[in-house]
Amino acid sequence: MSERIVTGESTSLDRDQEAQLRPQNFSEYIGQTRVVENIDLMVKSALVRKSAMDHVLLSGPPGLGKTSLAMLIARALGSELHLVSGPAIEKKGDLAAVLTNLKPHDVLFIDEIHRLHITVEEILYSAMEDFRLDILIGQGASARTMQIDLTPFTLIGATTRSGLLSNPLRDRFMAHLNFDFYEPDQIAQIILNNSKKMKILLSDVAKMQIAQRSRGTPRIANRILRRVRDFALVKGNKDVGLPEVQAALRLLDIDNLGLDSMDRKILTVMKDYYQGGPVGIDALSATLGEDKQTIEEVYEPYLLKQGLLLRTPRGRMLSEKAIEHVTNY
Ligand SMILES: Nc1ncnc2c1ncn2[C@@H]1O[C@H](COP(=O)(O)OP(=O)(O)OP(=O)(O)O)[C@@H](O)[C@H]1O
Ligand SMILES: [Mg+2]
Repeated sequence: MSERIVTGESTSLDRDQEAQLRPQNFSEYIGQTRVVENIDLMVKSALVRKSAMDHVLLSGPPGLGKTSLAMLIARALGSELHLVSGPAIEKKGDLAAVLTNLKPHDVLFIDEIHRLHITVEEILYSAMEDFRLDILIGQGASARTMQIDLTPFTLIGATTRSGLLSNPLRDRFMAHLNFDFYEPDQIAQIILNNSKKMKILLSDVAKMQIAQRSRGTPRIANRILRRVRDFALVKGNKDVGLPEVQAALRLLDIDNLGLDSMDRKILTVMKDYYQGGPVGIDALSATLGEDKQTIEEVYEPYLLKQGLLLRTPRGRMLSEKAIEHVTNY
């Protein structure tokens, strides 16, 4: 299988390094058992039917393995993967070009699909349902619809906010799979595998310490692991113990609950400016000077999961645990 970046953001160094640590097969893909079981069945069925796999929507917070899974799916199908980013597609024609270039049973991965422009999104409806493009040509009385047949393909949509998807789009995905944060022992397994890839010898306590501070998120575990590797390299050895991990965590400003400085800033602002809430997301975003969407997609899910933040009809509130944490920090 070859992977082709059709459009999307330029690959930064971070993304290149991420690519090295991506699971290369399903045995390296740890956890998310329910998601993987569903995918396994869908892939096998498609291979038996000798047709395209059903369209699937993957949703969940950033860094939990949606892109990695899409790559494994395409590989298992023996198909080419085309990666595009929703907000990067500006015109209908851009998406039409991608769709008409697909070969039979190819996989089209649209990242951040909830940020597709509505007029662009509309051409997906018939493409997904009937493998057909309906294109309106001309205007007014002389306008007519041109239809272009597409080859059967699989759409994998990834989103951090499935609630923002329009109903017509959501309904066209035959499977909706949700990613959840990983358990510490699953993160520990991912860290162990990746430390081998990076040729680091990690002690068990060091590994568990990273696992507990990674917000249940493989991408964050990898980020800590890289910093730990840097410490080991600079010290001139390949053995890593607790001191290197603690030094890396200090440098990354990650505390004992796995929160980083922005997480703590959210909690502190809520405590100091809003007496622990309730506070609306718009007010919070304005006070923090941070984009509302980023707060909702990147920071809140873990704070909610940890019971630090509570969502009430009147707004966000801090829990006792959160107040205690920021007071003692
Ligand atoms: N289940 C897993 N097993 C092993 N490693 C994983 C797993 N999931 C993710 N990773 C690691 O975490 C990194 C980030 O995962 P990935 O890019 O797939 O996340 P994502 O859900 O697509 O994030 P985003 O929403 O930000 O695009 C991968 O490069 C990989 O190293
Ligand atoms: Mg991704």
